[in-house]
Amino acid sequence: MSEEPTDDTEDVQPDGNANGADDVALDPWGSSTIDDYRNLFEQFGIEEFDTLLPDVSGPHYLMRRGVIFGHREYDRVARAMREGEPFAALSGFMPTGDPHIGHKLVFDELIWHQEQGGDTYGLIADLEAHSARGLSWEEIDEHARDYILSLLALGFDPEDGTLYRQSDNRELQDLAFELGSEVNFSEMEAIYGFEGETSVSHMQSVVTQMADILYPQLDEPKPTVIPVGPDQDPHVRLARDLAARTRYFGVTEAYASFEADPKERAVLARAYEERETFAEEPDRPRCVEAADWLAEHDTLSDLYDPGVIASTVEKLRAAGKEPLRPRVRFLDRNATDEAFEALIEAIHGEKRVYDAHIDTFDLSAEEAEDLAREVELAHGGYGFLAPSSIYHRFMTGLTGGKMSSSIPASHISLLDDPEDGYDKVRSATTGGRETAELQRELGGKADECPVYELYAYLLAGDDDAFAKEVYDECVGGERLCGDCKEQAAVLMKEFLAEHQEKRAEAEELLADLDIEFDSARA
Ligand code: TRP
Ligand code: SF4
Repeated sequence: MSEEPTDDTEDVQPDGNANGADDVALDPWGSSTIDDYRNLFEQFGIEEFDTLLPDVSGPHYLMRRGVIFGHREYDRVARAMREGEPFAALSGFMPTGDPHIGHKLVFDELIWHQEQGGDTYGLIADLEAHSARGLSWEEIDEHARDYILSLLALGFDPEDGTLYRQSDNRELQDLAFELGSEVNFSEMEAIYGFEGETSVSHMQSVVTQMADILYPQLDEPKPTVIPVGPDQDPHVRLARDLAARTRYFGVTEAYASFEADPKERAVLARAYEERETFAEEPDRPRCVEAADWLAEHDTLSDLYDPGVIASTVEKLRAAGKEPLRPRVRFLDRNATDEAFEALIEAIHGEKRVYDAHIDTFDLSAEEAEDLAREVELAHGGYGFLAPSSIYHRFMTGLTGGKMSSSIPASHISLLDDPEDGYDKVRSATTGGRETAELQRELGGKADECPVYELYAYLLAGDDDAFAKEVYDECVGGERLCGDCKEQAAVLMKEFLAEHQEKRAEAEELLADLDIEFDSARA
């Protein structure tokens, strides 16, 4: 969640989107209004959560109601959950203000994954708050405590999970240092819009977040979900990249001894499929024969980029009479000599060893992946799996527009006096019509109503029937805004009172935690 005052003109930074489209900005330190969530799918390759919903057993209400709208490779986590395999969940909070009902979404997501059996981590991003937002350590200590108390009050089990501050986790910082050698300034510039003026500590906070995201896998690689808002996606993408960059071996499929990129590989796969039609000996199709066939088939350019076809043809010609033959290839990325040798030893069946890669003919890609990881782990590598993510929608501010910590009336803090919470809901903007008559006639616009959001995201809790009733009554014109807000305001008051009681009870747990709220720093 972004906590920054939202001065769009000053704070929007490029997001590393190479084609220069600037209609959606995913910026971790800017304003996080997302106008069009669909764009995130097309532009950034975030996947829709809905299609995955049937694969999640007993999905959380935020999943059922579309509040969690997108993901990256969450299928991997869902599978581990279904099959009782180890998995982890981790998210981080910048202690720049009071925790509010927007943060509660993430708290709930973490707690749910913990209840599903996940190894769950909550961290305080104090290095980031200090370096990117300039908060003093004193302020950070106070907010850190408040975040942790709310997380505990909502049901996080500290005995079963892990809580830490970035600043006093030495193992984390060592990992951050290692990951830092895989990233350079040009990349930071491209992804985050960093400039000559950007402080080194701010950059350090980025590699620290990379380490946070991979931290659950330090003991052993496992599927890990990072529940966050979509503004954090640039971090997730970089972390997924770094997970791959630190690996000892890459595993790809190939058709001949030369290297091909994924698009060329698709063309090669197609040519291989058609071998019967062009090869003199179909069980030994030659590269040059495939090249001729590809060059002759104009219609293929409807399916594949002509440039890609051309480069594939060129490579095939250069390979001449070499037979085209599918294989699984191990690429040496960061392996030590011993690890490379050990991998060669470990491969059963037919194999061909080159300088920096090994081709194998009797392994599936999946078996090869497993073997590569096994050898890497046995030789001191991390063996990281690419971390997964889920993305939730940002709540609309109660005053319309964005929910922001710097506009008190726009959000409800988890520390707000319950009466103030009541009042804020009572004076919230609605999706209602000008008059009661019109509302009865046309129905309200629940989809554009911040009050309805309160029901769906929080007040209705697990009760889908209740959320649906509010929605149906609203759009059907049976529900009028005054009563609707009164009901929501009362529920909000009750929620806050209860939450704050639980916070008071959780105070006792604080002392036993492994986490310090008294920074020795000034
Ligand atoms: N950058 C996040 C924020 O702005 C906080 C954060 C730090 C985080 N490390 C993380 C979030 C790891 C998710 C995972 O709030
Ligand atoms: Fe919003 Fe309720 Fe009014 Fe519908 S009736 S527009 S949900 S406040």
